[in-house]
Amino acid sequence: MCGIVAYVGHRQAYPIIIKGLKRLEYRGYDSAGIALLNGDLSVYKKKGKVSDLEDSLDPKDLESTIGIGHTRWATHGEPNDLNAHPHYSSNGQLAIIHNGIIENYIALKKELESRGHVFKSQTDSEVFINFIEQIFTDLNCDLEEAVRIALQKVVGAYAIVILDKNAPNQLIAARKGSPMVLGIGDNEFLIASDATPIIEYTKKVVYINDYEIVSIKDGELSIKNINAETTQPYIQELDLRLDAIEKGGFEHFMLKEIFEQPRSIADCLRGRMNAQTGHLVLGGLIEYNNKVMNANRFLFVACGTSWHAALVAEYIFEELTRVPAEVEYASEFRYRNPIVHEGDVIFAISQSGETADTLAAIELAKSKGAMIYGVCNVVGSSIARASHAGSYTHAGPEIGVASTKAFTAQVTVLTMMALLIAEKKGTITAQRFHQLITELENIPAKVERALKSNDYIAELASEYVDSTNALYLGRGVNFPVALEGALKLKEISYIHAEGYPAAEMKHGPIALIDENMPVIFIATRDSGYEKIVSNIQEVKARKGKVIAIVTEGDTLIPTMADHIIEVPDTDELLSPLLNVIPLQLFSYHVAVLRGCNVDQPRNLAKSVTVE
Ligand code: F6R
Repeated sequence: MCGIVAYVGHRQAYPIIIKGLKRLEYRGYDSAGIALLNGDLSVYKKKGKVSDLEDSLDPKDLESTIGIGHTRWATHGEPNDLNAHPHYSSNGQLAIIHNGIIENYIALKKELESRGHVFKSQTDSEVFINFIEQIFTDLNCDLEEAVRIALQKVVGAYAIVILDKNAPNQLIAARKGSPMVLGIGDNEFLIASDATPIIEYTKKVVYINDYEIVSIKDGELSIKNINAETTQPYIQELDLRLDAIEKGGFEHFMLKEIFEQPRSIADCLRGRMNAQTGHLVLGGLIEYNNKVMNANRFLFVACGTSWHAALVAEYIFEELTRVPAEVEYASEFRYRNPIVHEGDVIFAISQSGETADTLAAIELAKSKGAMIYGVCNVVGSSIARASHAGSYTHAGPEIGVASTKAFTAQVTVLTMMALLIAEKKGTITAQRFHQLITELENIPAKVERALKSNDYIAELASEYVDSTNALYLGRGVNFPVALEGALKLKEISYIHAEGYPAAEMKHGPIALIDENMPVIFIATRDSGYEKIVSNIQEVKARKGKVIAIVTEGDTLIPTMADHIIEVPDTDELLSPLLNVIPLQLFSYHVAVLRGCNVDQPRNLAKSVTVE
């Protein structure tokens, strides 16, 4: 959570930092601030969005070729001007931006207070910069050394950048556990939480590793580890287009990303699968092929929407590979003493590749000898790098906070993986394999068709805009889709929603049903169709309002449901890829009609880099 941007070079820093913060606003948006150095070290910060900060400033007063900026998702201290970053040290010489949490800040704060430091905010970050200032003063060393010593004593996670009033051409940065990318341009450097603020200026980037300290002084770059040993930066060329991170004519990123799914699923399949030749390959698997093929168990760890994708995968893996599969919330897995064997293969699923709980679950599983296969969207992310092997989802940047195209891309990659394993193990017939890869290739065009219901769904949404609750029901591989539909609605429209396996309704939730309760059924033609039809009748008998997602041409359910939304026919195992589309659109339109900030829902952030 929180986004950081820093610039030093020959251009004006302020416009670059403001633009960068807007691109990172998905990471947190309760306050924003910048610090610029031009003789004085000046900090400007404000509660609210980056645009509120921008509106309060006049760029004419902000001339400087070096600066740092921050957009915050509050952890310590409520969102207000004082708790916003950057934070000065007590003597006003240093300013810091920080993404992460310093866990031992209370003890450090007490010690610093006893030495005369006075704190203006409630943040751990202000304690951090004062701790650095104290070491800097005590040792009379250079700032980089003071930072290095401080980092040996702090416990927690950080991506920090520091400005020193007395060093007009210097940025010191460091990372542990929170993401940081360095951009190297012509006589200029940028540092950011991800590459989106950087790509306009340079495509050359270095992903900073944990415990590395970056020092940029008078145009010279050096990177050292926490033991003061110099490390060689691994410079990579970014493959990211500017238009991929812009709205492209859509009103919101979320809608753009929903509509991108025919393309993002096709990109995910591209070069990996060809139904005509029967070719299916996942490059990331090659080195660990034997380990995966001989796994005793597949264990999926993830959070949120990625956890729902993992639940879909559980059905598909067990059905096709006949190897036991289990799904765990990363946040639960990491805090018990899970039984993990060397023969286990752990799939870590994450759009951002930065989710703190998923990262910690990986480290725990690794320590128990398991092999980790990462399925991430963000190239070069921490989870991608912490995994032994992996496949990217290639969905392109997902900027709307509510995950949409990442989900379908994750399910697509995991389906290919299950097919590959099943084929190698001989747990699938050649005919079924061919049938499934042919149908998988048809999915992008079928998603395109499912998107045609958009206008109808917008109308339907207006009937449910004032609902206070909603129930989502599905069976089998579409039970996780019900969970995902409910999550989408609650997170962006703030309507309480629950997802349930349809058969569980009788064990409790049925008590909720009355004429005010919308019940969204995933009722496409599959092996559970007749059972779902009975469930719909049970809801109708209690006067619930039924919205049913049905297969094109269904004639039975339209006679019972209040509303139907059609999706194209497909194989049951692939149906989540189509059935989730109307649910994404429904939540989007309800949220827009309720006047909610769809791309930046309250209290949320795109990457949950704190536990
Ligand atoms: C929901 C959503 C979150 C994320 C979760 C995991 O729309 O976006 O639930 O799915 O925070 O994030 P990643 O996939 O980045 O690990």
